[in-house]
Amino acid sequence: MKHVAIAALAAVLMGSAAHADVIKVGVVGPFSGPFALQGKNFKAGIDAYMALNGNTVGDDTIEVIYRDIPTADPAQSKALSQELVVKEGVQYLAGFYFTPDAMAATPLLEQANVPMVVMNAATSAIVAKSPYVVRTSFTTWQTSTPIAKVAFDGGTKKVISVVSDYGPGVDAEAAFKAGFEAAGGEIVEAIRMPLQTNDFSPIMQRIKDSGAEGVFAFLPSGPTTLGFVKAFNENGLKAGGIKFFAPGDLTQESDLPALGEAALGLTTTFHYAVSHDSAENKTFVEAAGKAIGNPAELSFPAVGAYDGMHVIYKMIEATGGAQDAAKAVEAVKGLSWESPRGPVSIDPASRHITQNIYLREVAKADDGTYYNKEVQTFEKQGDPGLAAAK
Ligand code: PHB
Repeated sequence: MKHVAIAALAAVLMGSAAHADVIKVGVVGPFSGPFALQGKNFKAGIDAYMALNGNTVGDDTIEVIYRDIPTADPAQSKALSQELVVKEGVQYLAGFYFTPDAMAATPLLEQANVPMVVMNAATSAIVAKSPYVVRTSFTTWQTSTPIAKVAFDGGTKKVISVVSDYGPGVDAEAAFKAGFEAAGGEIVEAIRMPLQTNDFSPIMQRIKDSGAEGVFAFLPSGPTTLGFVKAFNENGLKAGGIKFFAPGDLTQESDLPALGEAALGLTTTFHYAVSHDSAENKTFVEAAGKAIGNPAELSFPAVGAYDGMHVIYKMIEATGGAQDAAKAVEAVKGLSWESPRGPVSIDPASRHITQNIYLREVAKADDGTYYNKEVQTFEKQGDPGLAAAK
């Protein structure tokens, strides 16, 4: 009897001991270099989530390990992801600011039994690369579709499209074109710029010469967007009455102090504004503001990361901490919650986030600071990009 009791007790102890693990989450993002502020926002969102929800799930302790990838570099992303999985033993991969970096790591997922939670990269096709990808950010199809209708309904009939020549730019161009032409508008010219472009004056000249009434633009947020919006102003296009349409990447909050009047009045559509008026966002902005140090540096990658951690915590809960990528991903299909951005859910078919997209206008607050003011809501938007690619 005694032996049986001891054996049973030992089994219980071993069982709980086996579960009281450290579960590692590997986060790949730009933490140095020109896009460092975007990576800093990943970390602020993750820190905020863990400050508000603790660093344990059940008996397990969550540890986040960061790897720095300053600019889009698929080979480096694959090497870092592999190192995280093999040497560090991470059970989850997350982060990924740039599309090529997310794409490059997807072949590892099934062989390593590791889910990937994409916290930013916004090309529709990423989720189709592996059944173990879940995305908590947005796609440029999702954010650029509503602005096409806004542009046409506002009286603009001829637009020139200008995008960075890689995944999310090509998707944004296609999304705007589809929406704008369906409404009855005309794309007079479509320019694709190399990702490295930093002198935008020649582009501004081409916009002027095109005879378009408005420009649709997408570039990845960072020094790129800051430079583009500055050039739009400095080359006289804003003053000349050329209408400006873009997803919210172009007016991220952390760029607004430097842009000042150059950004005032610009209209964009996006999934998140730091000014979003809700109790959840108030709590989030306070915690993420504390985490980042200077709240004026807060921007959208923080909310993608915050919600990404929510998804990872749910996956860990569902698997009891065991390494089971299929079960983890299955558990979050259809998951819905109240995000700082508004109500969201993970679409079970695409594993991409369904969310509201807001029309915003850059406005000036009483204290002289600039912010994205939400003026209209497009509710429960899925990703039109995957269907369009079929
Ligand atoms: C991307 O590479 O997918 C990307 C990066 C920055 C953005 C949007 C998309 O603002």
